[in-house]
Amino acid sequence: MAILLDSASLDDAAAAARLGFVGGFTTNPTLMARETAQPLAHFAALLEALPEGPGCYQPTGDSAEAMCEEARAAAALAPSRVVVKLPATAAGVRAAALLRAESVRCALTAVYSPGQALLADAVGCVWVIPYVDRAERQSVGGRRVVESLAAVLQRLESSTRILAASLKTAEQVVDTLLHGAHDVTAPLDVLAGLAHHPLTEAAAREFAARARPEGGS
Ligand code: E4P
Repeated sequence: MAILLDSASLDDAAAAARLGFVGGFTTNPTLMARETAQPLAHFAALLEALPEGPGCYQPTGDSAEAMCEEARAAAALAPSRVVVKLPATAAGVRAAALLRAESVRCALTAVYSPGQALLADAVGCVWVIPYVDRAERQSVGGRRVVESLAAVLQRLESSTRILAASLKTAEQVVDTLLHGAHDVTAPLDVLAGLAHHPLTEAAAREFAARARPEGGS
């Protein structure tokens, strides 16, 4: 199981690297646009700021050819680490097939149906990426989506993994894993929230108080 950061912020990437359990990061064009007008150069800086594990880059463009051109430039930055995220549309799947023929690592993203998982397996994607909270908000059911992807991939004995995304709470992260996701990506505050429990914090305060000498501050 891998836990990834879902952010294009360099500060978030540096903070995530310090957490000790974050094994890579995902970005998308919306997250990138919040940080920079030069997404490829910024992506290179993110790969340095969070130096372990995969870094996911999502090209823009309407045609498979346009997506492939930007994807190749991203992949060339660190071929063993970069995973190109492509929307699970007809053009995105075609781009994934073209890029896989060049040994570029790919994932299909914004996934809501088991048919899209079938295609991710068919073209040899590392990941299929369902948007769990968005599915909840659209009444599609995030949990149901993840379960349906898991069933198809299991039936195919596929090596494609489910990377759950659009996760807004620590509880949603765990729930998604319990329903078939292999890996998760979430914003920094959600990842940090995995270590929070009021009773744990109360116990830690109690231990610290006990460890202080009588009358000490
Ligand atoms: C995943 O890689 C996406 O960046 C992300 O999780 C999209 O979902 P959101 O916009 O609901 O956060």
